[in-house]
Amino acid sequence: MHPRALVLASVVACSQALDTIQYGAFIATATYSVANQLGFFTENGLEVIYNQVPNSTAAFASILDGEYDILTATVDNALNYRFNQNQNVTVIGQLDQGPDLVLASIPSITSVEQLKGKPIIVDSPVSGYAYLLQDVLSAYGLSLANGDYYFMTVGGTPQRYSALINEALPNGTAVYATILTYPFTVEGEALPTGETPNVLARISEVVKPVTSSAFTIRESSLSNKTETALLTRFMTTMHAANKFLLNPKNKACSIQALSKQLGVSQAVATQEYASATNPVSGEISPPLNDFTVNQTGIMNDVVVRDKFGGFTVPSGFNFTEALIPGTGKLIDYSVKKAAVAEYHRHHLNGNCTTI
Ligand SMILES: *[C@@H]1O[C@H](CO)[C@@H](O)[C@H](O)[C@H]1NC(C)=O
Ligand SMILES: *[C@@H]1O[C@H](CO)[C@@H](O)[C@H](O)[C@H]1NC(C)=O
Ligand SMILES: *[C@@H]1O[C@H](CO)[C@@H](O)[C@H](O)[C@H]1NC(C)=O
Ligand SMILES: *[C@@H]1O[C@H](CO)[C@@H](O)[C@H](O)[C@H]1NC(C)=O
Ligand SMILES: *[C@@H]1O[C@H](CO)[C@@H](O)[C@H](O)[C@H]1NC(C)=O
Ligand SMILES: *[C@@H]1O[C@H](CO)[C@@H](O)[C@H](O)[C@H]1NC(C)=O
Ligand SMILES: *[C@@H]1O[C@H](CO)[C@@H](O)[C@H](O)[C@H]1NC(C)=O
Repeated sequence: MHPRALVLASVVACSQALDTIQYGAFIATATYSVANQLGFFTENGLEVIYNQVPNSTAAFASILDGEYDILTATVDNALNYRFNQNQNVTVIGQLDQGPDLVLASIPSITSVEQLKGKPIIVDSPVSGYAYLLQDVLSAYGLSLANGDYYFMTVGGTPQRYSALINEALPNGTAVYATILTYPFTVEGEALPTGETPNVLARISEVVKPVTSSAFTIRESSLSNKTETALLTRFMTTMHAANKFLLNPKNKACSIQALSKQLGVSQAVATQEYASATNPVSGEISPPLNDFTVNQTGIMNDVVVRDKFGGFTVPSGFNFTEALIPGTGKLIDYSVKKAAVAEYHRHHLNGNCTTI
């Protein structure tokens, strides 16, 4: 290389030094996939380290102890940690409304009733998804409390999907059913005939909307200016990517991004796109799609958890009050507000030719 080119190259590298953010997630959501594959993060000066979380217990330990800067996890976890355990977790925005949540089974199980006496694999028996499962199964006459079925703790959706497809856990225990989410619901449907899991019920038949993935941090991050600035930059980028994803003009490019991120065919990615942009359950936050938590959606999480005794709060605890956003509350929009304002100041475009 010519010495001048070398100098120029290092100047460019230097001016492009990226700030690192530790991001914990259960799945690569469509919004993250677009941000990651189309260069939105680098365009905004960020290097996002994607940490695949094994289960909600480990994920919340990592957000509270400072290992992660931000986590996307189903918001019910935050309800449990804050209201039951008095842990200072804070939700700074909603990412989706429960995309493609289904009760799925192995091919030989063809009805909910056949789950009688069987284990159902979950992330945690006290997680939001387990409460949603109880609600759906009870609509079909099966009760956990009566011992009609039981829960077996296995881990996050990637592990459970793999166990469902194998019809067994790594230790050989037989698997019958679990709850699936984006992108696994569609991936399962795309398997060859005979291997496709059965969708026994859609969660949305019983309860909708459900606020699911939420941006979650530890409350103490909000009193650290450097950390708040970093989180704001992350949220600005995710907001830009989410707007891009939800804009039908970008459909072809978004599908490319999903295909690349998930390692799936164009045809499967097209169905994943439909799932992620679904106007009731997709990666949406109506009406503005600005990560505002849907109050009906989060209240549905509360109602379902409460119905099955999942709260240990004092009697008379006012959930309506507890869900009002504000400083020091479960939901705090200060970062989101700054991020949306920043998004309007500096448009991030992404670059479709990078894939
Ligand atoms: C969660 O994952 C961690 C780390 O892999 C593991 O040590 C722990 O046993 C898991 N906990 C549950 C409840 O599955
Ligand atoms: C949560 O924050 C409150 C208010 O700052 C504090 O009093 C409390 O000790 C914190 N709880 C934990 C478990 O750190
Ligand atoms: C296999 O793992 C599951 C989930 O951890 C556990 O409930 C079950 O007892 C294990 N079975 C054997 C045979 O070790
Ligand atoms: C504030 O946040 C920055 C960026 O994450 C971190 O490096 C620093 O240690 C934090 N400061 C304190 C006092 O926690
Ligand atoms: C919550 O989501 C539902 C379903 O998308 C929507 O109809 C409703 O308007 C939303 N609520 C608010 C307050 O935006
Ligand atoms: C619960 O809080 C809401 C909002 O602050 C308030 O409007 C309502 O009256 C409270 N309910 C009770 C039973 O105190
Ligand atoms: C987009 O990416 C392509 C391929 O990496 C590059 O040639 C092009 O200059 C980029 N466009 C913009 C606007 O950054």
